Amino acid sequence: MAKSPSFVCTACGATTSKWSGRCETCGAWNTIEEVKPLSDGPGGKALGKSRGTPLTLTDLSSAEKEPPRTVSGVTELDRVLGGGLVKASAVLVGGDPGIGKSTLLLQAAARFARGGMKVMYISGEESAGQIQMRAQRLGLTESPVQLAAATNLRDILTTLEAEAPDLAVIDSIQTMWLDTVDSAPGSVSQVRSAAHELTSFAKRRGISMVLVGHVTKEGQLAGPRVVEHMVDTVLYFEGERGHQFRVLRAHKNRFGPADEIGVFEMTGRGLIEVKNPSALFLSERGEPAPGSAVFAGIEGSRPVLCEFQALVAPSPTSQPRRSVLGWDGGRLAMILAVLESRCGVAFAGLDVYLNVAGGLRISDPAADLAVAAALMSAREDAALPSDAAIFGEISLSGAIRPVAQTENRLKEAQKLGFTQAILPQARKRGGESGLELRHMADLPAFVEALFGE
Ligand code: TYD
Ligand code: MG
Repeated sequence: MAKSPSFVCTACGATTSKWSGRCETCGAWNTIEEVKPLSDGPGGKALGKSRGTPLTLTDLSSAEKEPPRTVSGVTELDRVLGGGLVKASAVLVGGDPGIGKSTLLLQAAARFARGGMKVMYISGEESAGQIQMRAQRLGLTESPVQLAAATNLRDILTTLEAEAPDLAVIDSIQTMWLDTVDSAPGSVSQVRSAAHELTSFAKRRGISMVLVGHVTKEGQLAGPRVVEHMVDTVLYFEGERGHQFRVLRAHKNRFGPADEIGVFEMTGRGLIEVKNPSALFLSERGEPAPGSAVFAGIEGSRPVLCEFQALVAPSPTSQPRRSVLGWDGGRLAMILAVLESRCGVAFAGLDVYLNVAGGLRISDPAADLAVAAALMSAREDAALPSDAAIFGEISLSGAIRPVAQTENRLKEAQKLGFTQAILPQARKRGGESGLELRHMADLPAFVEALFGE
């Protein structure tokens, strides 16, 4: 008889049947905690009387092949969801405390409600009065969203059962508790059990359930990575404190592409959608300055232009600093190594700082060439042409590799008034773009063309 796992790693969500000091899956120390088994599975019991009815794929009617969706009208949110909210699905919205999750979801709830959905917003963090005050500030008092302040899951499920809403928002999963689990709210056991109850309730009753989860400093959902495994869609709300931009990013999505992003701006009256993120991310760009390079990137399905800023300065210590914000530190080390060994440009004894303006986080591999350009420009103290957009992936050999969606990148750059593009060599002859195209075969050629005498 298989024993149900009763230990879970709080860092990666892996389950095991015995305790150990180190998680065998992710290697983290002191992260294994005991949890109550979620429900009595069939293991150990006599087989049930009823049996499931298997289907073949061809049995599915066309209506079932595409899940029923409801659009909120907030385009940036609908896109990240994969084209709208799917019925009977569970969505987790994670993010740092104070980033704007409650604001986003209250606004979204109001839009769904105005569209005719029955919506309940259940908060375990604020009283109904506080939510009303927030709604007032956001100008949402006319919206027919039902508000409740509760943390006891038994009460909440009873309410949901009686009210039968189409959408329920639970803010936040860390404040919910089950009286059958004897540990404090926010503990792994509680969060895991609460998420399990809520997601299975959503599936059973055909409700769309949105769970809010706080993320810890280390980038984990406080305690339970486990919740990520239980829901259909995981969205992260990102942004830097002090910047008004917020990016909603699909981390996992059973009903749409992952890595899709929606861009918002936090204002005094809540979040507003940013229809043209490139213009926003480039808005702080001043006069052409050394160390600044404009990257023509793709985030999800959409082209986004943004600015890489680099600073290179003599290091006062024998261990020069490599500091990077909004990009991968390992990737920066690789670009520095390639510049050094293939182009003979040394960065030894120099501190290197790199960041993405506006607090955006870039994961597109095509950013390599823009980063190399920013680094070289900073090191040589020579500004790049301010009307050039740059993209291309760099390999260890120093070759500049072609990347996906060249046309879309060029189109976006042209729309924003750029007149030239620095890019990899074309695989095939592209259409007319209206930009001056400067194709580069490898990094030495690029360095020679832009920084040579
Ligand atoms: P909130 O949605 O409470 O964050 P979370 O639920 O992720 O913890 O947002 C809190 C921050 O947003 C707070 O610092 C104030 C700011 N804010 C605005 O700037 N404008 C607004 O209209 C609202 C409601 C909040
Ligand atoms: Mg909140």
